[in-house]
Amino acid sequence: MPTKSTGTIGILTAGGDCPGLNAVIRAVAKAAMHYGIKVIGIRDGFRGLVENRTIPLDNALVSGILTQGGTFLGSSRDRPHKMEVGGKVVDLTAAAVRNYRRLKLDCLVCLGGNGTQKTALRLHERSGMNVLTLPKTIDNDVAETDITFGFDSAMAIATEAIDRLHTTATSHQRIIVCEIMGHDAGWLCLGAGIAGGADVILIPEIPYDLEAVARRLMRRQRAGKRFSIVAVAEGIVSREEAKTRAAADRMSHELGLETRLIAQAGSAEGIHLVQEPVASRLARRLQQLTGVEARVTSLGHVQRGGTPTAFDRLLCTRFGTKAGELLAEKHYNIMVGLKGTLCVPVPLKKVAGIKRTVPVDHPWIKTARLVETCLGDETE
Ligand code: F6P
Repeated sequence: MPTKSTGTIGILTAGGDCPGLNAVIRAVAKAAMHYGIKVIGIRDGFRGLVENRTIPLDNALVSGILTQGGTFLGSSRDRPHKMEVGGKVVDLTAAAVRNYRRLKLDCLVCLGGNGTQKTALRLHERSGMNVLTLPKTIDNDVAETDITFGFDSAMAIATEAIDRLHTTATSHQRIIVCEIMGHDAGWLCLGAGIAGGADVILIPEIPYDLEAVARRLMRRQRAGKRFSIVAVAEGIVSREEAKTRAAADRMSHELGLETRLIAQAGSAEGIHLVQEPVASRLARRLQQLTGVEARVTSLGHVQRGGTPTAFDRLLCTRFGTKAGELLAEKHYNIMVGLKGTLCVPVPLKKVAGIKRTVPVDHPWIKTARLVETCLGDETE
């Protein structure tokens, strides 16, 4: 490990924000400066690089931000090769590269989820820019790391919400369907569902059988339970929807839609696209099937707000300082991941473009089944 190094790095935060971004910025910057590397903050993700909006970082600027949610640099979902300018989508990769060179950067440090990993690799491959990434997302779906930062904090928020829903659900003898983020991965819903003791947990990786869920809820009612909590991931699909999903994906691709659409069988063409929140539809149908009053809570962006948990603060500080060490060694074009107890560099090529969803034989799935949680797939 070098005692001193040289050069300049840029740092940006891209994609959806989450608790822990400021903690990582602080740790990368402090460790890099410790080794003698200059640090430049880039505003609003890749858009700030394209538009050359930067801020030199020093110890004072990264001090006192460990516990702050969000990102003081700002974030965006913009990608240099597909930037929206004046209502048009244009490729501004050349501008990003020009600014990277103008700032005399040795490496661009990118804090982001799957989209960011892909964009960073693309910039490296297309322009020769050096990049180093860190795995950020509440969805926990980045490959080559045991966990992403932000996940634990979001899981704590969703768990607390489920705890609170228990008391109101039991007072009114209701089913409460709680929608949890996670994009197409079920980690957040499964983790919070188990931790909060949800009675039913539905995740995208296990297409659900509506009637099996209803049967479980009625069984609970017959057993004298005064409530049921159904935790659902935003990306869930029913068994029927899973069958038509491939066709719907093809259709949304052909239409050039950026939003994720939910395929529903039953229209004249066999596929009907709807955008109603998944929890509302589910609650309505469960109320019809069980005769029990149902309500919906969609946690939404509350899950991305506020201060990081102690676990995330520690993880972020470890991720960031490891990145600082690797930058001092001029070890680039990697992501820092957690493998077991160690923060390690992994080739970015092994990460970009791969979504880590919940394997159906994952220990958390077995855990849920052993405490009799319904995952929507058994014959009840
Ligand atoms: O990737 C993080 C995430 O919060 C997902 O769980 C969710 O699907 C998405 O971002 C929401 O994105 P936005 O903040 O752009 O609405």
